[in-house]
Amino acid sequence: MCGIVAAVAQRNVQGILLEGLKRLEYRGYDSSGMTVLNNGSLTRHRALGKVAALAEQLDNAPLPGMSGIAHTRWATHGKPSEANAHPHHSSDQVAVVHNGIIENYEHIKQALQANGYTFTSETDTEVIAHLLADKLNSGLGLFEATQEVVSGLGGAYALGVMSVVEPGVVVGARQGSPLVVGVGIDEAFLASDPLALLQVTDRFIYLEEGDLVEIREQGAIQIVDRDGHQVERPVHTFEHGDGAASKGEYRHYMLKEIFEQPEVISAALEGRLSTNSVLVESFGPEAQVLFQNTRQIHIIACGTSYHAGLVARYWLERYAGVPVQVEVASEYRYRHPVVPDGTLFVTLSQSGETADTLAALRFAKTLHYVGTLAICNVPGSSLVRESDMSLMTHAGPEIGVASTKAFTTQLVALMLLTLSVSKAKGQPERAEIVAALQSLPALCKQVLGLAGQIETLSQAFAEKHHALFLGRGAHYPIALEGALKLKEISYIHAEAYPAGELKHGPLALVDSEMPVISVAPNDDLLEKLKSNLQEVRARGGQLFVFADQAVGINDQDGIRVMKLPHVHEALAPLLYTLPLQLLSYYVAVLKGTDVDQPRNLAKSVTVE
Ligand code: AGP
Repeated sequence: MCGIVAAVAQRNVQGILLEGLKRLEYRGYDSSGMTVLNNGSLTRHRALGKVAALAEQLDNAPLPGMSGIAHTRWATHGKPSEANAHPHHSSDQVAVVHNGIIENYEHIKQALQANGYTFTSETDTEVIAHLLADKLNSGLGLFEATQEVVSGLGGAYALGVMSVVEPGVVVGARQGSPLVVGVGIDEAFLASDPLALLQVTDRFIYLEEGDLVEIREQGAIQIVDRDGHQVERPVHTFEHGDGAASKGEYRHYMLKEIFEQPEVISAALEGRLSTNSVLVESFGPEAQVLFQNTRQIHIIACGTSYHAGLVARYWLERYAGVPVQVEVASEYRYRHPVVPDGTLFVTLSQSGETADTLAALRFAKTLHYVGTLAICNVPGSSLVRESDMSLMTHAGPEIGVASTKAFTTQLVALMLLTLSVSKAKGQPERAEIVAALQSLPALCKQVLGLAGQIETLSQAFAEKHHALFLGRGAHYPIALEGALKLKEISYIHAEAYPAGELKHGPLALVDSEMPVISVAPNDDLLEKLKSNLQEVRARGGQLFVFADQAVGINDQDGIRVMKLPHVHEALAPLLYTLPLQLLSYYVAVLKGTDVDQPRNLAKSVTVE
């Protein structure tokens, strides 16, 4: 989605804003722009394409000034173009950056046009600039004007606004889209994500829904809640160092994040296991009683997080004996779900700001769930703050749009949930799974050691337009995730099927041109899977199998086998994810696509 960064400082803010935009580029990147107040005038640059294009303009014509707002856009209303890029101005008196969607903008636009305002973009955002100008002309200050304007806006927004009438002031507002305040020494900032500001501060205030904030010279910060009351919000210190937001020695963030998995899986486990058992209290003091009374679980998420939920269904039903439903948030939020007594509502999200997942949680809170739990990677995110309980996945910042380490740490968290529910219900301890969890980081390292071989294998895909992924049991969701990764970053059309479903239709697609990728761990469905693979072989399909080293599937004509170390059956979905991530990555690199920022996608989907 769009990204906002704003600064009021005692120094030139151009560099701070530009660096912030670079760090926010993962959120959306079809255009960007910056407005800075200089000698009483608003000066602006906007550029189509990546932030680098804006940087070039700034090199040629710098925008010096001590307060400013900037934006990276992911188009919703109006095509990507310079005219539609933010900031939007009204008669060079007001500048606005916005993340979100103003649902009633057409109606407002007509009224403004009738009053003589001229529009220069196709965006919904421009109405805010003109509305603000109108209020300022009636004599209101910037803060009061913003307060009045947002009270008439429908939809979702995070805003940053500034005006020539109040130099050295930026006002922000948050309703449905994330916005944080960066607390500096005698300076203050706003951004969509703390990552944008780690170069200047590690102290942040997470605004609540409906909050309005004013940042001023000398670092003064004033926050007013949705009811107009002045409030103090806690200042949090950001946990992860700034290094987490850089690529280091890696060519892409995605590759770095794939290779970080052993380390972040350890972090996700840290302090949550005793020698033989899980510590149920990891989920909070009330978890023991809540899990004991949990009779069903509904898991809601989007995209990759949804795939993690699908794996958890196999685990929770098998190892904790609790029935589970898993659903994508965009469907759930508009259904009339039946909620049996004793149902726990669980959301999964890397960002904690995904609009559909957040809306699903808010809807669920109107139903009679026994409690809500968020499994999330971003402390202080909306999902975490609005849920009864939360468990952080500790994956650290994930910048690549294609989710990798966030997924595997979600799986770790979901296995901890499975073991915790089972333990709270008094079922036998699963010491062997606990031991397997502890050995997982080392096994992941071994699998990452196959990167060179997988890179070679990827050559077979560079010219392909389609691919099929097969898995059975808890590996069907892993096949879905493998297909999603390949689609997202290499733009190869990929479908995933439960292998047993092949003969009911998709087998018609198989010929000598169709690559079929399968995951074959050593589990009780292995023999069934082998028969399904024979069905592919018999039709001349090209098979690529990631198999347990002990299962006896070997390279032969038409079958390429990549052998993985043995892992406890319960944790195989985690381990088998890694080679599929690597395969997608190397195929995308061969095809020359934009691995970290694939076309049309955004990291954090904060609009519906
Ligand atoms: C994953 O590679 C995708 N970028 C996407 O499917 C993502 O998982 C989805 O948008 C959900 O995001 P969240 O986990 O932040 O809620």
